[in-house]
Amino acid sequence: MHKSLQIIREEHASLSAMLQSMGLMIKRGPLDNKELFFKVLRAMLFYIDEFPEKQHHPKESTLLFPFIKDRSPQIKDLIDKLEIDHKYGEYKIRELEHLLIGWEMLGDKKRDEFNHFSAQYITFYMQHMQLEESLILPEALKVLSEEEWKILDLEFSLNSDPLGTRSPRQSEYDLLFTHITQLAPAPIGLGD
Ligand SMILES: [Fe+2]
Ligand SMILES: [Fe+2]
Repeated sequence: MHKSLQIIREEHASLSAMLQSMGLMIKRGPLDNKELFFKVLRAMLFYIDEFPEKQHHPKESTLLFPFIKDRSPQIKDLIDKLEIDHKYGEYKIRELEHLLIGWEMLGDKKRDEFNHFSAQYITFYMQHMQLEESLILPEALKVLSEEEWKILDLEFSLNSDPLGTRSPRQSEYDLLFTHITQLAPAPIGLGD
């Protein structure tokens, strides 16, 4: 298997794990420790905002998608949709971060709005990754040249991944992932 494909799938797995944990945290609610609840959720949202934005989306948008788009006009519309997801996903996650602060600062009357928007966001992001894995990656396997795979393998190898074992767990995002896991209360994470 091409290394870049493995890395893309591992990065999706890390993001899915974080989105699922976030969903569980929200379902669980603050219980008797609001401070910890908001701290964990802020860290989760920051990770979901930061990690794909800096490491994952740019390489899909500038390398993977253009390589495929040139050869597979039948999925041009899908790639356009995924590009829009990348662009507006950033606004959506910022909005979610803002809504969380609203809940923390203004109280429980803001809770429903945050819960509603976060559920929508989790579905949106999971579907985005699912489309990439079920339609984009198989198409890449069909049409990309060896030269293009070499470029993708090299570029994606520069990323790091919290759940993978391909590189030392040293990047700031790896550390953040581990920190969130340790902070989140059990059974969602390893915390109290
Ligand atoms: Fe993407
Ligand atoms: Fe992706």
